[in-house]
Amino acid sequence: MAIGEWWRSAVIYQVYIRSFADGDGDGLGDIAGIRSRLPYLADLGVDAIWINPWYPSPMADAGYDVSDYRAVEPRFGTLADAEALIAEAHAHGLRVLLDIVPNHTSDQHPWFQAALAAPPGSRERDRYVFRRGRGPDGELPPNDWKSTFGGSAWTRVIEPDGQPGEWYLHLFAPEQPDVNWEQPEVRAEFEAMLRFWFDRGVDGFRIDVAHSLIKEEGLPDVGDLQWPMARVEVDGALVRPEWVPHPHWDRDEVHDVYRQWRAVADSYDDPRVFVAEAWVDEPERLARYVRADELHTAFNFSYLTSPWLAPALRRTIDETLAEHAEVGAPPTWVLSNHDVARHVSRYARPQSDRPVYSPADIELGTRRARAAVLLTFALPGGAYVYQGEELGLPEVEDLPDDVLQDPAWERSGHTERGRDGCRVPVPWSGNKPPYGFSPDDSAQPWLPQPTRWGPLTVQAQTGDPGSMLELYRAALRIRRESPALGEGTLRWVSLTPGALSFERDPGFLCIVNISAQPIALPDAAEVLLASGPLPRERELPEDTAVWMLR
Ligand code: GLC
Repeated sequence: MAIGEWWRSAVIYQVYIRSFADGDGDGLGDIAGIRSRLPYLADLGVDAIWINPWYPSPMADAGYDVSDYRAVEPRFGTLADAEALIAEAHAHGLRVLLDIVPNHTSDQHPWFQAALAAPPGSRERDRYVFRRGRGPDGELPPNDWKSTFGGSAWTRVIEPDGQPGEWYLHLFAPEQPDVNWEQPEVRAEFEAMLRFWFDRGVDGFRIDVAHSLIKEEGLPDVGDLQWPMARVEVDGALVRPEWVPHPHWDRDEVHDVYRQWRAVADSYDDPRVFVAEAWVDEPERLARYVRADELHTAFNFSYLTSPWLAPALRRTIDETLAEHAEVGAPPTWVLSNHDVARHVSRYARPQSDRPVYSPADIELGTRRARAAVLLTFALPGGAYVYQGEELGLPEVEDLPDDVLQDPAWERSGHTERGRDGCRVPVPWSGNKPPYGFSPDDSAQPWLPQPTRWGPLTVQAQTGDPGSMLELYRAALRIRRESPALGEGTLRWVSLTPGALSFERDPGFLCIVNISAQPIALPDAAEVLLASGPLPRERELPEDTAVWMLR
């Protein structure tokens, strides 16, 4: 591997800061908490951490509404704390990625406040997407675009003269006005913000909703165009329909922005890296973000959203590998993040190409999650770990209504519970909340932790060879030591339908049994690591994976 290309096979751990570790006892995770847990992360064996937004924010969307991109939210710490964390992480051999939010700012950002105070047509308004409404008095939104969190994507402002006036666009919450990327000043400002953090030693950025920045000229209605496009049934199988352009997702012009950003990253001696959060379903469209002069990597959401079924996983893996190979970029593999239900709970239900709602069988979901991580870490390229998945945390599906904070809950008129269930603070030690998340005698954690999490703490799992945590540690250790793992290629081995089985050179074999019965293991190979018990010689039980050495 070329020096400086660490990101081609990196395992990156996602630190959802508000729920990772609380150093000052206010019930909200913070930088002091992360610093105190760096030894844990280094020992786990990951290469880097990605920290969700830590900038000053009114927290209308858990920090994705940024009011100052060059500072740190006081509840998380100070700029000096951030610098200390970066230096200490580096001393532990961990790289640090931050999260940049370029599609929108907070409505409290000075730019938006200035836009509200300025008249229609002004330069201040032009940094955002302001339009006159439809209808005789402009009383209807300018078009039919919807907010991701529910309701219209437009909000009407009261002009400085006290009259209802223009509307502004927000693809997310009204507190997150979309920025106008046609404006050169906007582009220059974001590049300056990247440099601000790169100059402080940050190794890279995750780019929030990277596929949304550019909007189609004239802002035409979306009509019944779906995103992502719903698959259609052909001969009993669900297939992707032909790709058609969307007025505000994945516009071709967005790539010009990332070519510029790449030049900024490459201007550093130790080049800095990007990972795109682009919810683009077609592997061919996703691969465009990781062309040689654009971003380094992108999250693979088609893998994350795949059901635990051999044909679906195999199809996603093959498409991903082929499309990334075309552009020479390493794929990444991700099972969970702070926006989706935790995979233990997703896999705890009957699997199908279409979502199924039924009670969760957490034991089954956990067995599958154990197998899934061996698959994930054995695939060519890089991987992401979302905090708490190494503990096997399930989704918390019974949070009381009155603690829910995701804007989707209110915006949907209480029909969507939102994403709080995967954001519950991490249990570190002890038998009851806050499980070492906060120091003793602290304020309650910002979301309540279940009283049943005692056996899931880091402390309870450490040293237990059957625990999820020790499985992650063992797998990451082998991955680091094995020349076969990380970037490269794989060769499928045909075994039996319902098994995913592939070889990687030199001498590595991964077999995942996703069928309903045990399968035979090849004779001439020795088991390196198994995701679960192997009660019978040379037999792999269902929902179990093994790594073998030939
Ligand atoms: C991304 C973030 C999500 C946030 C949204 C708006 O999808 O991951 O948490 O709500 O962007 O910024």
